Amino acid sequence: MKRIGVLTGGGDAPGINAVIRGCSLRAESLGLEFIGVRRAWIGLKERDTVPLDSHVTAHWLGRGGTELRTRRYNPFDEGEEQLIVEGFAELGLDGLVAIGGDGTLTTCYGLHKLGMPIVGVPKTIDNDIPGTDQTFGFDTAVQAACDAIDRLHTTAASHGRVLIVEVMGRYAGWIAAYAGVAGDAALVLIPEHPVRLADVIEWAKGLKQRGREYAILVVAEGALMVRDDGVPLVRGEVTPEGYEKLGGVSVHLARELMAAGVDARTIILGHIQRGGPPSAFDRMLSLRYGARAVELLAKGVSGVMVALSDNHMITVPLAEVAGRRRLFDSARFDLAWMLPRLPLADGALGDRAEGAPGDGGGPAADR
Ligand code: F6P
Repeated sequence: MKRIGVLTGGGDAPGINAVIRGCSLRAESLGLEFIGVRRAWIGLKERDTVPLDSHVTAHWLGRGGTELRTRRYNPFDEGEEQLIVEGFAELGLDGLVAIGGDGTLTTCYGLHKLGMPIVGVPKTIDNDIPGTDQTFGFDTAVQAACDAIDRLHTTAASHGRVLIVEVMGRYAGWIAAYAGVAGDAALVLIPEHPVRLADVIEWAKGLKQRGREYAILVVAEGALMVRDDGVPLVRGEVTPEGYEKLGGVSVHLARELMAAGVDARTIILGHIQRGGPPSAFDRMLSLRYGARAVELLAKGVSGVMVALSDNHMITVPLAEVAGRRRLFDSARFDLAWMLPRLPLADGALGDRAEGAPGDGGGPAADR
């Protein structure tokens, strides 16, 4: 093992550059040559690389985004996987660290089966990668959402309004659940727990009667709300690349609430949660992930993802990660009882039901 590369795929997350910094420091200490592959897998296809060492990565720890740039591109979808394998060989690489979410890690598994020595690093603010206690980027995103919610309490109270704070979380409600509880929201809506639109409206209309002057409602972008005829409130748009673009469920909900006589406004936090410097926790986690990934490759271990378990670095076979996602798991969240929610809408989960937390809802709503 002499020459190792690193690439970043999918959406960015705070801490990517810290992972690369961890890789570069460990590679140097082990006497390995280390290069960065630019624009995800495209860099392998087009031989677009940059030499990396501890000097180049010197001030990357606290820098958001990815210095290597990223793309949403799956070589298997394009029938270009052999071009990637050829690029890897031609660049003289002996191993690759691939930093990515579910799509990138699934691609890693496919390429590993074609003989490429790869170690994956779990990256996503959504925290929905199986096999690890936490992905890097999640902590920073939750803090950004919580900071926003803290600010919104005073203005919501002043006007006696419902403020709907929409956070990221495509299939999993980790950000909404953590930021909602930490930010003391009155209601949290997550994809794993579909609700009836009529119940949300009833909940909002009854706030004053229940002694609440105002409410913060946190909704994950992928949250499902169904009308009485079973039709979802909103469906995501599909981008030209075939990627489902979410965002905007809060706008539709606010419209429904206003029509029902509830004064409601929306705040879509969007990419604010992904941009900017990583938290100290995410920097530490990222450094550990990067350093361990390089150590593994140096030892000849590949086909695995580095993961966090009880604050220890472990490895999980890519085969156990590929094509799977980890939904918000109330059982592992010991403050789940604090999560305010409405009853589950029967049958709305459809094929998403598999792996869902299944902890019911109860009549609950706000505390
Ligand atoms: O997967 C992470 C994520 O931030 C999701 O929460 C969100 O739906 C998606 O990326 C947004 O992606 P894009 O930046 O391509 O709009």
